[in-house]
Amino acid sequence: MKKVAVVGFGFMGMTHTLNILKNGDLQLVAIVDKNPQSVKKNLQSKSGNFSTGEIDPEVIDNIHKYQDLTDCLQKEELDAVFICVHTNLHFELAKEALNHGKHVLLEKPMCLELRQGEELISLAKEKGLILMVAHVVRFMPPYQKLKQWIDSKEFGELKFLSLSRFSGLPAWGQWKEKQADFGSSGGALFDLLIHDIDFVNYTLGKPGSIKSNYLPGALSRHDYINALWSYPQHNIEVKVEGGNIFHSNFPFQAGFMAQFEQASVLYTTFQSGIIQIATNNELRETPVGDAGEGFYNEVAYFALCINNNQQPLECMPGSSLETVQLCYNHL
Ligand SMILES: NC(=O)c1ccc[n+]([C@@H]2O[C@H](COP(=O)([O-])OP(=O)(O)OC[C@H]3O[C@@H](n4cnc5c(N)ncnc54)[C@H](O)[C@@H]3O)[C@@H](O)[C@H]2O)c1
Repeated sequence: MKKVAVVGFGFMGMTHTLNILKNGDLQLVAIVDKNPQSVKKNLQSKSGNFSTGEIDPEVIDNIHKYQDLTDCLQKEELDAVFICVHTNLHFELAKEALNHGKHVLLEKPMCLELRQGEELISLAKEKGLILMVAHVVRFMPPYQKLKQWIDSKEFGELKFLSLSRFSGLPAWGQWKEKQADFGSSGGALFDLLIHDIDFVNYTLGKPGSIKSNYLPGALSRHDYINALWSYPQHNIEVKVEGGNIFHSNFPFQAGFMAQFEQASVLYTTFQSGIIQIATNNELRETPVGDAGEGFYNEVAYFALCINNNQQPLECMPGSSLETVQLCYNHL
C-alpha cells in the first residue's frame, strides 16, 4: 500500500481522507493541519457547499497529526501527499513535497500565477514524480457520460453546450477569513467556475474566442461570470455561467444542457443520478452515477497512476495550467 498524508484538514482534506480510507491501494499515515487541535472539531462541524460523506472520528484518532508539512516529511515515510490548503499555499507546499520526492495530488486551482504552475510541472518532471491537480469534474459520472457522447457522436455533432455552477458565499473553515482578504482565492472564476472551464478545455480544447461578462462579489471582482466560448472550426458554442454571489445557505447547484444534432440532454444536481434525453418525439431518462462519486474516482485514479508509475493522462498538470490561463482569458 502507498503511504499518504493529507495536508489541510478542512472540507477538501476531509473529503479526500474519506476516499483514501475507502481505497485499498492507499494507507493514510498522517494528517497535517496548522490547527491540529481543530481536526476533531472539523469532523463535527458542517463544511463545504454540499455533503461528501462522514468519517469515523475513531479512525482519525489513530492517525499521526502534524502542524506543518516539513515536520511530517521529516518523520514519516510517505509515497504521496494530498495538498488541500487554500490556493495561496498550493505552490509552496506542492514544491516542498515534490522536492522531498513525493507524488502530489494538488487541489484546484493549481495556482494563480502561471509561472508557479510551470515551475511545479518542471520539478515533477525532473524528479520523475506524478503531479495531478484534483479536477474532480473530469471524474464525475454525469460529465464522463457527456464527454463520451461528444466523442462518440452518439447523438450526432455537438452544437451548443451550456454549463452552470452556483453556490452561496463559502462560509466554512478559512473561507470566513477570506471574506476580508479580497482576491486571494482567485474568487469564483478561479475557484468555482474553473470546474466547468476545465471540463470544456478537457473535452473540446481551447476555444477560438471567449466573450465574458462578470460581476464583483465578496471574494473578488469576478464572483459571477457569464461567458460564451466559440469554436468556429467546429460550429460549436459553449456557455459557461455561475458564481458564489448568493447568501451562504443558498443550495449548491450545477449541471449542463447540450444540444446535439439528433437530441438534447439535461443534467442537474437537483435530479442527481439521471440525465434526461429529449428528441422531437420523446423525453426519456438514462441512469448515471452520482456526481459525488467523482471524489472517489479521482483518488482511485491517482492511486492507480502511482502504483503503475504512469503519468495521469486523464488529468495532466499541463492541461490544468492551461485551464488557469483560460480563467484569465475571461478577464
Ligand atoms: N474540488 C472541489 O470541489 C473543491 C471544493 C472546495 C474547495 N476546493 C479547494 O480545496 C482547497 C481548500 O479549500 P477548503 O474548502 O477545503 O478549505 P478549508 O478552509 O475548509 O480548509 C483549509 C484547511 O487548511 C488548513 N491550513 C491552512 N494553512 C495550512 C498550512 N500551512 N499547513 C497545513 N494546513 C493548513 C486550515 O487550518 C484548514 O483546516 C482550496 O484550494 C479550494 O479551491 C475544492
